[in-house]
Amino acid sequence: MSQETTPQPARRKFVTYSLRTLAAIWAAAIFYPILRYLGPHQKEVVKDVSEINLGVKTLEPGSSESFVFGTKPALLVKNLNGELKSFTAVCTHLGCNVVYQKDLATVAPGHSGEGFFCNCHLGVYDATGKNIAGPPPKPIQEFKVTVADNGEITVTKA
Ligand code: FES
Repeated sequence: MSQETTPQPARRKFVTYSLRTLAAIWAAAIFYPILRYLGPHQKEVVKDVSEINLGVKTLEPGSSESFVFGTKPALLVKNLNGELKSFTAVCTHLGCNVVYQKDLATVAPGHSGEGFFCNCHLGVYDATGKNIAGPPPKPIQEFKVTVADNGEITVTKA
């Protein structure tokens, strides 16, 4: 009596189905990232704005707060006279961030009073944003600040 083993059809179908499924998963894992990379990219649309409402802010004289104006960093400053001012925080040299200093002498020896300082290459701006030392070639841009009756602050590009 010979015992011939013939695979059972159900088992053969199961193995074939499993192998095809694994091959499909493997192919998807390989080709999906490639197709994503080669396909059209979704561009992030960031709208440049000319006006921004910052809401109500409480700043002490000699302090500042940073915010994003469209796509660029900016500063809202309450200067030592209590006036609200706003400037871009982008240095005119190579684009590093500038920060408000209520006393420039603490970061830029030889200078006094309030102003702006860029730590990248020691650029110094006075309280009006005018470049006064270091490599920055021109003043930082100042924005118009409006305070509504309800205290909301709006910054506008001039
Ligand atoms: S980037 Fe500001 S001084 Fe160079």
